[in-house]
Amino acid sequence: MENQPINKPIIYSGIQPTGIITIGNYIGAISNWLKLQDDYNSIYGIADLHALTVRQNPAEFRARAMSFFAQYLACGLDPAKSIIYFQSHVKEHTELAWILNCYTYIGEMTRMTQFKDKSAKHQDNINMGLLDYPVLMAADILLYQTALVPVGADQKQHLEIARDIANRFNNIYSPTFVVPEGYIAKQGAKIYSLQDPTSKMSKSDPDANAAVSIIEDADSIMRKFKRAVTDCETVVEYREDKPGVSNLLTIFSEMTGRTIEDIVNEYHDKGYATFKQAVGESVVERFRPIREEYNRLMNDKGYLMSVAKEGAEKAQRIAYKTIAKVKRKIGLTELK
Ligand code: TRP
Repeated sequence: MENQPINKPIIYSGIQPTGIITIGNYIGAISNWLKLQDDYNSIYGIADLHALTVRQNPAEFRARAMSFFAQYLACGLDPAKSIIYFQSHVKEHTELAWILNCYTYIGEMTRMTQFKDKSAKHQDNINMGLLDYPVLMAADILLYQTALVPVGADQKQHLEIARDIANRFNNIYSPTFVVPEGYIAKQGAKIYSLQDPTSKMSKSDPDANAAVSIIEDADSIMRKFKRAVTDCETVVEYREDKPGVSNLLTIFSEMTGRTIEDIVNEYHDKGYATFKQAVGESVVERFRPIREEYNRLMNDKGYLMSVAKEGAEKAQRIAYKTIAKVKRKIGLTELK
């Protein structure tokens, strides 16, 4: 990254190591990130500190964070082009989050949709972290002078708050943070649940048949596609009143690069069983190289650790500059 021209805008995104990385995440987000790596200075964080806002089993959590990291790499995020690291390895995130807390109003946090949803879901654990989640996310973004943040609809409100905090700070002192914009991906089809094709495929769906992981074994993928909810017709057509079949068509098209029209022409009257079998196979084949690379990486923990370390060091070099500037501006005493 140091060798790249600094005038490339910075893109930052984070993913919480919870649930599974689904084929929906891949089609909707990761595949776009791969294309952005050459035109931007991209930074991707495993948002492990954010994941702590709900209770985690320590051993599972540690394993899942490393698994997510390996999956990022297996997908083709390239440590030579992008910074890929664990949020918790760069202490500046929590340091800046504390400072930004003092520039954020409680009312702004209590009205966040995600806070309300998660509080309702985890009533026995409405902790400070849950309330403070958007401030930590603002710190993630602002630390790197991020220009663009590719976010889904559910994170737009958090990005808006990050912008508000940045503007507030810049106005009180002087321009310190780049005010980030949302990056709306050009393509990236939306993939729906295989069990309820009117809701988005979720990485933490409690129904294991609803979502497919990018590293899932072939048998399990085939089983889930065979069970995918469709409708009581028999024709394969892309129609609003056929959300299940339309979702399968989208997936098939994304996996093979074929147009939906072309696929409909071939499968229109072949029946759902044949069609689902073909969709499942396209997913198995498309993710085979990623699955194999993932397995290889997970057998080389030393390599994964060295990439994580290098990522954290590169990230920290940027983060450190921002935090030093912030501390100076607000009047903290520098230790010289
Ligand atoms: N909150 C985001 C999510 O759940 C993950 C995230 C953490 C993030 N830090 C970020 C996304 C910074 C974009 C930028 O999806």
